[in-house]
Amino acid sequence: MAGTRTSIHGEWSSRFAFILAATGSAVGLGNIWKFPYIAGQNGGGAFVLVYLICVALIGIPIMMAETMLGRRGRQSPINTMQSLAEEAKANPNWHFLGWLGVVAGFLILSYYSVIAGWAGAYVVKSVSGDFSGASAEVTSSLFGEFVASPLQLLFWHTLFMVSTMVVVARGVQGGLEKSVRFLMPALFVLLLIMVGYAMSTDAYGQGIAFLFAPDFSRLSTSGILTAMGQAFFTLSLGMGAIMVYGSYLPSHVSIARTSVIIAGADTLVALLAGIAIFPIVFANGLEPGSGPGLIFQTLPIAFGKMPGGAFFGMLFFILLVFAALSSSISLIEPAVAWLVENKGMSRRRACFWSGFVTWLLGLGTVFSFNLWADFTLFGNTFFDVLDYLTANIMLPLGGLLLAVFAGWIMKQRASKDELSDEGVLVYKVWRFLIRYVSPVAVAIIFLDVIM
Ligand code: TRP
Repeated sequence: MAGTRTSIHGEWSSRFAFILAATGSAVGLGNIWKFPYIAGQNGGGAFVLVYLICVALIGIPIMMAETMLGRRGRQSPINTMQSLAEEAKANPNWHFLGWLGVVAGFLILSYYSVIAGWAGAYVVKSVSGDFSGASAEVTSSLFGEFVASPLQLLFWHTLFMVSTMVVVARGVQGGLEKSVRFLMPALFVLLLIMVGYAMSTDAYGQGIAFLFAPDFSRLSTSGILTAMGQAFFTLSLGMGAIMVYGSYLPSHVSIARTSVIIAGADTLVALLAGIAIFPIVFANGLEPGSGPGLIFQTLPIAFGKMPGGAFFGMLFFILLVFAALSSSISLIEPAVAWLVENKGMSRRRACFWSGFVTWLLGLGTVFSFNLWADFTLFGNTFFDVLDYLTANIMLPLGGLLLAVFAGWIMKQRASKDELSDEGVLVYKVWRFLIRYVSPVAVAIIFLDVIM
C-alpha cells in the first residue's frame, strides 16, 4: 500500500494531469533560452553529451525520489521533509532541506521572471515588424538597446511576476492543467517549424556537428559542472518543485514511467531548440558563445526572413512566455504551500507576499544588464552570480541531499512501499542509482571543481 494521506491543497485529476504539470514545469526557458547559450559557451558536443548522461543517471532517479517523497509526505517540501524524517526516526534538521529549496526557488524565479519578460517584449517586437529582413547586426543591436533600458526590463518583469502570482493564487490545478494541454504541443510544433527553417540554411550540417560531435578538448571542469547544473535546472529538480507536485499525485501512479516521460519530453525540446538555433548562428557569422542573448539575436533573423515571419515570431514568443509561466509557478509553489500550511495565510495573501519579495529581488537582475553592469564580482554580474549559485550549487546540493535521504535515511520499507507498483527490477535499479550513482556523481563533480 502506498501512502494513504491526501494533500490539503487538492490532488491532480489524473496521472496525465500530473505529467502535464510536471512537463510544464520542466519545459521552459531552461530548454529554449538557457540550453543553447550555455552549450554554445561550453563548446557544444561534449557538453551536450555530459548533459544527456547527467539527465539519465542523476536526473531521472532524483526525479523519482522527489516525486516519491512528495507523495508520501503530502505537504509542502519543508513539512514533508519534517514528517518523513520523523517517520524514519532521523535527525529533524532534514527539514532545512525544504528551506534550501524555498530559498533557491525565490532566487531562481527572481531572474527567471526578468528573462521571461524579455520574451514578452519580443512578442511586441515581432508584431511591429522590427525583425523584417534584419541582419545579424540589426538583431544584435536591437537586443543590446533593449537590455540597456532598465525601464523596459522593469515593465516586462513586473508584468510577468503579476501574471505568475495570479495563476498561482488560483491554485495549481485550475487554469494550469488546461493551458498546458494546448500550449505545450503548440510550442512543440513551432519548434519543428524553426528546425525546418534551420534545415534550409546552408549551415545546417555545421550546426548539427557543433551540437553532436563531442570534442572533449573544449570541455572544462567548470563546463562539466554547468552541464550537471543544467540537468537539474531543466528538469526542475533539487528544490522541491517536483516534490510539491508529487504531493498532489494520486497513489498508485507509476512514478518511474512518469519520470521517464517527463525527462524525455524535456530533453527533446532542448535538443530541438539547439538544432533550430545553431545553424542560424553559423549561417550568419554569429558567435555561439555570445551568452544569454543568443536566442534573441538568432531567431529574429529567421523570423525576419521566412514568409509569415511576423506572425510566427509573435506566436513563438507568446508560447515561450506560457512555457515560462508554467515553470515559474512551480518555483514559488513550495513557498506558497508552506505559508498556507504554517502561517495560516490565505492562498492569495501568500501569493502576494512571495511574489513581492521575488519581484524585489528581480530588480538586481534587471539592473545587472544596464545600470549595474559594471558592478561585478570576479567579472560576474549580479545575474551571473545568481545563476551560478542556484543552478550550479544549490540545486545539485539539494539533489545530492535528497538522494541521500531517499536512498540511505528513509527506511527501505517506506520507499519500497511507495514504489511498490513499479516492479521489483525497476525498484532495484532505482535504489542502486539513488544510493550509489547519483549522489557519488554529484559529489565527484563538486570536488573536481573545488580541487
Ligand atoms: N525547469 C524549468 C526550465 O527549464 C525551470 C524551473 C521550474 C526550475 N521549476 C524549477 C528549475 C525548479 C529548478 C528548480 O525552464
